[in-house]
This record gives sequence, C-alpha cells and structure tokens, in this order.
Amino acid sequence: MDSLEESLFDEIPSARSEIENMNAYSAPLEGRRNLLRLDFNENTIGPSPKVLEAIQSISPEEISIYPEYNGLTKAIADNLNAKKTSTKLAPNQIGIFNGVDAAIHSTFYAYGDRNKNFLTTLPTFGYYNPCASMQGMKIIEIPYIGSNFAFPFNEIKKALIELEPKILIICNPNNPTGTNISAKKITELAQVSKKTLVVIDELYEAFSGESVLPYVNFDKIKNIVVLQSLSKTSGLAGLRIGFAIGNKNVIDRISRVTGPYDINSFAVAAAFAALGDQNYVDNYVIEVLQAKEWIKSELLKANLKYHLNFGNYFLVWPNNNTDEVETNLKNAGILVRNMKGKPLINGSLRISIGTTIQMKEFWEAYKIADKLIH
Ligand SMILES: Cc1ncc(COP(=O)(O)O)c(C=O)c1O
Repeated sequence: MDSLEESLFDEIPSARSEIENMNAYSAPLEGRRNLLRLDFNENTIGPSPKVLEAIQSISPEEISIYPEYNGLTKAIADNLNAKKTSTKLAPNQIGIFNGVDAAIHSTFYAYGDRNKNFLTTLPTFGYYNPCASMQGMKIIEIPYIGSNFAFPFNEIKKALIELEPKILIICNPNNPTGTNISAKKITELAQVSKKTLVVIDELYEAFSGESVLPYVNFDKIKNIVVLQSLSKTSGLAGLRIGFAIGNKNVIDRISRVTGPYDINSFAVAAAFAALGDQNYVDNYVIEVLQAKEWIKSELLKANLKYHLNFGNYFLVWPNNNTDEVETNLKNAGILVRNMKGKPLINGSLRISIGTTIQMKEFWEAYKIADKLIH
C-alpha cells in the first residue's frame, strides 16, 4: 500500500457519540461447558425432553425458510392465563423477542428519548444501563436500603414525581439482591407518573411466585410492561426467547423496532414445546426451592455472611479473599459470579441455586475453597 492509500485509510469512522462513550455489557461467557455453572442463574439440568424432541424433529424445509410465528403469542397467552391473570391476556398484548435482553433493548429504542431520564435501582441487572446509554439517556440509580437490601419505595416515588422519567425498570425479584416488591406497590408507583413506562423485569418470578400480572388490567393500566423469559426456568437460554406483556399499543411500539425474523425457528419450536410442558418447569422450581432451604441451613451453621432472598441465587461474602475463593471454586469445576466493583455488594460472590445434589457438590467445594475445612 503506498502512502496515499495509507493516509486515506487511517481514520476509523466514528460511531454515534453515545456509542463511543458507553461501556458495553460484558459477562464471562466463554469456556463454561462441562462445569457446574452457578454463575448465570440458568436452569442447571436442561430443558424438558419435549423441547429436545421438538428441536430434533425440525425439518430441512423449516431450516431453509424464514421462521413462522403463527399461534405463538396465543400459546404464551394461554400459558399465562392458565396461571393467574387479572383479565384474560390477549395475543396482541404479548410481544416476542430474541430473549428478554432484546425486549429491554427494544423498549429503550422505542421509548428512551435522548437526554430524558431513565430510573432504576442499584445494584441491579447490568444490561439496563448500556441500553440507556445507547439512547443518550440520563441514568438515575437509587440504592437498595440497609443490610437487607430493602426496596427504596419512597425514594423511587419521589424521583417519579420530581423527574417524570421516560422509563423506570424494576427487576422483581432483583438480580442480584433478590429484593421483591409487591404488585400493589408496583401499581401504586405506576399511578404516580403515568407518562413513565414502568417495566417490571420478572425473569426470576417463578421462584417468588409473585408476578404482577394477576393485578394489572393492561386496558386500564397502560404504562406497565412485564418481561418474562423461557431462558431460566424452562432452560432455553441458548435459544433466546423472551416476552413483553402489556397494553397492546405499547407492545406494538416496542415490537416496531425489531427485525422481522429476530426469533429463529428453533426458538419457536422449543417455545411451543416448553409452554406445553408446564409440569416440567413447576417441578424444577420445586427442586430449586428445596435446594435453597438446604443451602440456607448450611450457610447459617457455617456462620458466614450471606444474603438469600427471592430468586434462584444468593450472595455470600467469603471469609477469605473473594477472588481466591472464586478461583479455588473454578479449579474444583464450579463457576460462580464475582460481584467485584458492584455498589453495596462488592466483595461478594453470587451463587445460582440448582438441585440439592448440585448444591451439596457446591458446598463441599466451597468449604475447602474458603478454608472452612482443611
Ligand atoms: C434480570 C434479568 N433480566 C434479563 C435477563 C436476560 O434474559 P434473557 O435470557 O431472556 O435475554 C437476565 C439474564 O441473566 C436477567 O438476570
């Protein structure tokens, strides 16, 4: 290449200023296979056998044509209506996305005006902030309160009144603190600022059993959107499918900004099968809740500092150096998530809860990793 060509190509095209200045969401995703994965709050035993059957019977034709979504929103509505809802959900009150992550991204894309306020809690799920940054929004984070990480209800209410944010996201129960807020309080907050889109991220709702859905009639309360996913309890994290549930006009706006075929045919086939096998999910949740009781009693006996609330995860503050304990666990084949640098919970490890057998394996390794036994 001569010097003229070099000088023509030495500039990198700049992205929008918001993109140049933002920090991307990053998670340690690689090299996790064949280990006991207690780092992403995933299902630790895999999906229903019916899901595997459905995927295995996908024909070459289905692979070579664009996906079809017919009947999927109805299947989701039927599944949710069979649990408990305020009024029967209709298919047009449900949007399907390439995971809840994509629903979050689309929500910000559709509703997050530049320089307007985005309100959330601290610490919480790490993907909200990059999405708000992409839109050039102002981020206001209100900390959970005290050693029990109580929900900062009055502070959020005050911020809603004073700042009228475009978007409020409440992760309920919250990842990583497990904090839960009641449906009554959520609807109270939604009334305070009707211009605010109040997004309730219910990724871990199956483990608290306290969805806001039974308390919201989306024809009347138009500014609440609920996010649920098949990633965690149904074990479809690798296939990527999640839903947004809300007023039909809001769902329409959030769905406008997606690509026409963002959810692939494997995810569609898997979703139908998973929704048709609610028993499998219910049994997995029971299994996790039993394991949770077991690990709780061990943590108590060990006199460790820990925080265990709603969700399929808990926090523990090791007696020894957190990074070393994490490494020791990894060397024993167990992955956990280091909360290093996270406000209020720095120094802790977040541990996902799987089956009792898996938690026993974790606990044996933990006791050695944190030198509780030698
Ligand atoms: C609170 C929360 N919301 C959303 C997601 C992403 O869910 P999905 O796999 O459906 O994109 C996660 C995944 O860890 C999460 O913890």
